[in-house]
Amino acid sequence: MSNVIEKTTRSVVDWFNARTPGLMPAYRKHMSEYYAPKNFNFWYYFGSLAMLVLVNQIVTGIWLTMNYKPSAAEAFASVEYIMRDVEWGWLIRYMHSTGASMFFIVVYLHMFRGLIYGSYQKPRELVWLLGMCIFLALMAEAFFGYVLPWGQMSYWGAQVIINLFGAVPIVGPELTEWIRGDYLISDATLNRFFALHVVALPLVILLLVVLHLGALHEVGSNNPEGVDIKKVKDDKGVPLDGIPFHPYYTVKDIFGVGFFLIICAFILFFEPTMGGLFLEYDNFLEADPMVTPAHIKPVWYFTPFYAMLRAIPDKFFGVATMGGAVIILFFLPWLDRSPVRSIRYRGLLTKVMIALFVVSFVVLGWLGMQSGSTVQSWVARALTFYYFAFFITMPIWTRIDATKPVPQRVPEHD
Ligand code: HEM
Repeated sequence: MSNVIEKTTRSVVDWFNARTPGLMPAYRKHMSEYYAPKNFNFWYYFGSLAMLVLVNQIVTGIWLTMNYKPSAAEAFASVEYIMRDVEWGWLIRYMHSTGASMFFIVVYLHMFRGLIYGSYQKPRELVWLLGMCIFLALMAEAFFGYVLPWGQMSYWGAQVIINLFGAVPIVGPELTEWIRGDYLISDATLNRFFALHVVALPLVILLLVVLHLGALHEVGSNNPEGVDIKKVKDDKGVPLDGIPFHPYYTVKDIFGVGFFLIICAFILFFEPTMGGLFLEYDNFLEADPMVTPAHIKPVWYFTPFYAMLRAIPDKFFGVATMGGAVIILFFLPWLDRSPVRSIRYRGLLTKVMIALFVVSFVVLGWLGMQSGSTVQSWVARALTFYYFAFFITMPIWTRIDATKPVPQRVPEHD
């Protein structure tokens, strides 16, 4: 019996190979003969998890689109219809809304891994730059998506963000009008945001992810030690500290996926709004251009940047600070001048700087959700200052910090 299955499988595979000669070489290059460092740890789950969430967003998004109506008159009611009347509609909607937050959790952790292991350093600068392009596209995708249910926060959040473009010198007012497609946020705005959310940006993100992985597989993965595994190879040219991605890391990633899905299931079934963090309570009220919500604030993943915007009293400088906070991340590969990659071989200074950076980013995130009292604004200003100081002075503190010698091979730890 097993002989028959094996024979059939072989002939099907042979049939395809004869007609698509690139398939097997691509499989070998990216899976069975992609030699990844043998010491990947917890932090290396998040790339594959980001791909999983991307697939979830696309699949649930397609199903939501089957019943959603992209018009100002019908959007809110169509989402209610999905939640109440469409079979399993509530699950699909919550999978999509929870997926959006999970996407940012996973991507922030993925970026943090890059920071602590110096994964953006030579030769992986392009991997990082493409990652940053994904991050920008993801932010745009999440923003457009949040407008679609046409709730109070959709409407007023969009109002705040689009008005920021008014700070652009000279063309500001025309620019906001061009983005809205109207004198105020309206049906025309919702329609174009829908087109961008369901077609344009998913395509851009998919393309960027392919390029991101292509760039990574060209140079090979970094690892928690920051050791260059390509330096020591056997006589067949295989790195001695490398193991084939498939089956070793496919199995490891499947374990990560199982664990991750359990956490997602808990959120989906017990706390889908996450206490107003993942879906804000104001968004369960239909958009009303005549009533402004008491506190307009974005979803949690934007709040660190939103806190920076609010901390600066001048509109133009506020917008420039917020934009600069994202743009500066593009320069990370050139700001870090350390001769070693991983935090494991760096000194106390780097560890303290990174720990304070994490604290400032998280506290800024919290501040962005608060009302913005005078004290809170001053704390936000101090933390914004630290955020920028971290990057601007990076060429100095990465150079003066002590380092330990990096071994030739991945060492065995106890
Ligand atoms: C949709 C979003 C993203 C997806 C699907 C994705 C996917 C992946 C995958 C599968 C890997 C290899 C496995 C791993 O190292 O975890 C990877 C590596 C990497 N990614 Fe991403 N990524 C995304 C976003 C980003 C962002 C926003 C950045 C940073 C700005 C980034 C920077 C990197 C870097 C530097 C590596 C190499 C890490 C190393 O070798 O140590 N990625 N990515």
